[in-house]
Amino acid sequence: MLQVAQLIENYRKDIEAYEAANAQEAEAFRIKYLGSKGIVKAMMGEMKNVENDQKRYFGVVLNEFKKLAEEKYESLKNGLSNVSETSTANMDWSLPGDTLPVGTRHPLSIVRNRIVSIFKQLAFAVAEGPEIEDDWHNFTSLNLPEFHPARDMQDTFYVHKNPDWLLRTHTSSVQARVLEKGKLPVRIICPGRVYRNETISARAHCFFHQVEGLYVDEQVSFADLKQTLYFFVQEMFGKDVTIRFRPSYFPFTEPSAEMDISCTVCGGSGCSLCKHTGWVEILGCGMVHPSMLENFKIDPNKYSGFAFGMGIERICQLKYRINDLRLYSQNDIRFLRQFTSAL
Ligand code: DAH
Repeated sequence: MLQVAQLIENYRKDIEAYEAANAQEAEAFRIKYLGSKGIVKAMMGEMKNVENDQKRYFGVVLNEFKKLAEEKYESLKNGLSNVSETSTANMDWSLPGDTLPVGTRHPLSIVRNRIVSIFKQLAFAVAEGPEIEDDWHNFTSLNLPEFHPARDMQDTFYVHKNPDWLLRTHTSSVQARVLEKGKLPVRIICPGRVYRNETISARAHCFFHQVEGLYVDEQVSFADLKQTLYFFVQEMFGKDVTIRFRPSYFPFTEPSAEMDISCTVCGGSGCSLCKHTGWVEILGCGMVHPSMLENFKIDPNKYSGFAFGMGIERICQLKYRINDLRLYSQNDIRFLRQFTSAL
């Protein structure tokens, strides 16, 4: 009986020290101790040799021994499952991975980035302004006082009345924000979102995007304006494209012009895009009106400047033949996916 007790004590030490590095070693433990020919069974078999008055005590010892072996086996198995979750040792690296869908740049972002990088070559810096504007920056300081008929074309959404806060109708408001800082010379472009109270259709939307340009310094001339925009057009649409200016009217420029480029589809011979004129309009521009400079306490006898404003959707339409303005904001993946490999 004493011998058996000593044996159990030795096995107990062995069980406590046992470690399993993998499932096979845990299984070997089970077979060794808990299998049908295992040690626990063998020790139970010793019961018949135990004297009657010792049987009770020996039964308790044996049960504890069995419990210890069972618990150890459970903990060996659990330890293995924890290990296999975190360890990389058992991973199958040849399995195909879960691919993450990669988005594409929005066509308007592509074109905006391109415009910014072209003007960057001419040392134009990017300036930004708020989308909620006050009347002064969006209208009055740009020679569009209250009741001016040119305001009719730029109805918008009012956030507050008296004083008026509105969603800006053009990026020209950023001109006002930059000029009021009084730091000259100024050579900036201002990309951003603008709003108008329009019925949504293929050709009009209640929000769209513009890029404004402004250059104010001593002796800036219309020739500088023409050369700057010609450079832009050739970079954007290619060396074959030519430009022409038509007289126009904007309250904040004098003289004002609208600029056309030779049709990018037919090259000028006439097609449906250019309505058989050979030309398509892309932007408005002009020399900054002297009274606007005065609005910002800039001496128009010393300084002059040019400005221009273009719609990013319009450039996008000409570059990618997108004929419906609504497509830009519908989030249709079939539309957006077409720009995966665009620059
Ligand atoms: N702000 C004008 C518009 O939204 C566009 C424009 C025209 C901007 C002429 C200018 C400019 O800076 O000189 O219709």
